[in-house]
Order: sequence, then C-alpha cells, then structure tokens
Amino acid sequence: MTLSTETITNTIEAHGGELINREVSDLLKKELLAEAKSLSAITLNPWSLSDLELIGIGGFSPLTGFMNEADYTNVVEDLHLSNGLVWSIPITLPVTEDEAKQLEIGTRVALYGEDDHLYGVLELEEKYTYDKEKEAQRVYGTTDIDHPGVKKVYEKGNVYLAGPIYLLDRPKHDDFVDYHLDPSETRQLFNDLNWKTVVGFQTRNPVHRAHEYIQKAALESVDGLLLNPLVGETKSDDIPAAVRMKSYEVILDNYYPENKARLVIYPAAMRYAGPREAILHATVRKNYGCTHFIVGRDHAGVGNYYGTYEAQELISNYEAELGIQILKFEHAFYCKTCENMATAKTCPHDVSSHLHLSGTKVREKLKNGESLPKEFSRPEVAEVLIKGLQEQ
Ligand code: ADX
Repeated sequence: MTLSTETITNTIEAHGGELINREVSDLLKKELLAEAKSLSAITLNPWSLSDLELIGIGGFSPLTGFMNEADYTNVVEDLHLSNGLVWSIPITLPVTEDEAKQLEIGTRVALYGEDDHLYGVLELEEKYTYDKEKEAQRVYGTTDIDHPGVKKVYEKGNVYLAGPIYLLDRPKHDDFVDYHLDPSETRQLFNDLNWKTVVGFQTRNPVHRAHEYIQKAALESVDGLLLNPLVGETKSDDIPAAVRMKSYEVILDNYYPENKARLVIYPAAMRYAGPREAILHATVRKNYGCTHFIVGRDHAGVGNYYGTYEAQELISNYEAELGIQILKFEHAFYCKTCENMATAKTCPHDVSSHLHLSGTKVREKLKNGESLPKEFSRPEVAEVLIKGLQEQ
C-alpha cells in the first residue's frame, strides 16, 4: 500500500526523525472509498476528527495512528512513547463498549465525521479499556469534573481503539482556507522565506499586547514568527476561532513586518492540560518546522488548576529530548509608569502601576460593545472582536 509523498527540505527534523504523511494517494483513496461501504463504521466527534487530521498530516509525527495500550500507558505514566520518545498527551480513539463489540481486531474500520462524510480508515489492531481517574489525574493533574479537559475524559467511551490510520479527506476548514497549511507546507514556506529559525506561537485567544510583546521579543532573535492559533474545539466561553482569525489578520497587517510573520491554523482540539499540553504544543510546532516555541505564563491553563510557571517548569525537564528550543516568558503587562509593556524582570514598579484585565472582564466588555484600553489591546483588534462577538 503506498501513501502519497512530499519533498521536505526544512532543516529541523520532525519528532522521531520522519515527518509522517498518512494522506492517501488518489488511487488508494478510490480503493478505500469502494471498500468502506462494506466496512464497520464509527462516527468521530470533532475532537477525534481533529486528532485524525493531525495524525494524517504529520502534525503528530511520529504517530501513524491512534495509540495502542503500551504507548498509552507509557505516555500517561511516564511522558514517553514505548520507543522512548518524549510524548506528553495520549492520542486515543474512544468508543462505547457497545460500539467496540461490533468491531473485530484485524479488520478495517471506516471513520466518519458527524456530517456523515468519510474522513479516514483505521486498521484496527487493538481495543483496550482504561482508567479514567488515572488519566485525568496524571494528564490534567486533577480529577475535578469542572476542569474542561477532565470533563471530556469522563464523557468519552470506555474503550480505546488503536492502530494506524489512512486519511482520505481532511475536514474542510472553510473559514480558514488561506491559512490551512500542513507541516510539510509550512516547512516549504519557511524555506521559501529563507527563515532558518522560526518561533512558533500557540494561542486560543486574540493577540493582545502581552502576546504581541513576547512574540516580538522572540522575533528580535529569530528569523520569523509562525502565529499558529488553535482552531479546533475549545470551551464555549473562549472567543470563537472564526472571530479570532479576523483579529489575527488585522494585527499582522498593521503591526508586523510582512516578511517576518505568517498565520497558519493549528486544527487541534484544546485540552486545557497546562504543563503537559505545553509539551504537546511544542512537539507539534517542531513538526511544523519551528526551531523555537514560546511558553509564557500559565500556558494552556484554565481556572486555577496550574501554577503560573508550572508549564515552563515541566517542559524544562524535557527540553533537550524535545529538540526544539523553548523560549520562556514571564507574565507580561503594561506598566503605566514605565509607559511600556514589561515583566517583573524589566519593571521596578508595584502592581498599582500595572494594567491587568481578566479574560472574563475582557469578554464582558467586548460583548457589551465596549472598547478595550489601547494599552491592553490594539484598537483594530478590539474593533474586530466587538463586531465579531455581536454578530454571534
Ligand atoms: S493558551 O491556552 O493557548 O496557552 P493564550 O492564548 O492565552 O492561551 O496564550 C498563548 C501563549 O501566550 C501561551 O504561551 C501563554 O503562556 C502566553 N501568554 C498569554 N498571556 C501572557 C502574558 N500576559 N504574559 C506572558 N505570557 C502570556
């Protein structure tokens, strides 16, 4: 069975040494489409569908499919795959016990989306049950059902399916077609731009002044910035990706040099797993061809589940093994006395000089059509967000 191939010239190695491509050639696609009609089928929720896509396009290299029990157990207990490679978050395909009973090991399973479209095929090698409390505690650091990632763990089916996948079609991402590049394509893009060093920036928020400050601080010492917002499933009170994308366009157009920054979507679901997710985020950006990755304050955190610098502390233990350089930034803010963006490293003034706005406050203001202080957010960004949120 042959998969389509791409030429990759970017200098940083993919995680594990090979950029995976599980997208099938036209010929194989035809065969699998015909075969799929007679296969057992399951429907993937948006989270699993985004995992399928990321495996397929190589974002999750070296994974070629959903994790088997040996890899899963190693990842949960020890942050490594069973081959010894660092990996922090299980990538699994949950189904209910009833669904699992219908599926036979050694057969192929057709993978449909909730839109009834056939997106992939799984070579079913293994089915296994798992301990949800253990997964929650180890991966998310809590078993609290109010944690949005933990809630997902408790909601999902009790059996994981494992085996290599074939990606037949990617989800469309119609809103973002101009920004939908695969890791092989971003690698090519960096070559074309002659960027030897590239800093990746993960975000699930609009780019406010603190984000801009740390991105530009990083840009002072690398060739380019990959603004790589997560556009998969997020919790309901996060700003929707379609609205955020417009805000990224406007800030890049107005405040970044044209040849120094590129916007590309990261189609994953948000886990809110804080420290462990920071490691996954860095691993994936390495696969996209980044040489550097930013981890700021409370990276991928939610509520008060993680300490401000816990993600930086954990990732520091694995930095050498990860093979991507982690740029760690302290909590950045606008200081009214300095009249500048700053951190505790660069500003001597006390908190009364610092401008702080909580995410909840920001969303409340935007929803009410109120602008944000220009020291917190670029006016063009606030304008796009107000408009976008009022249209929701
Ligand atoms: S995340 O869940 O995607 O990490 P967010 O979009 O808020 O959330 O953050 C994107 C990146 O910017 C993360 O690395 C985060 O740690 C960092 N960051 C966000 N706000 C600040 C801030 N005020 N100071 C320093 N780093 C920040």
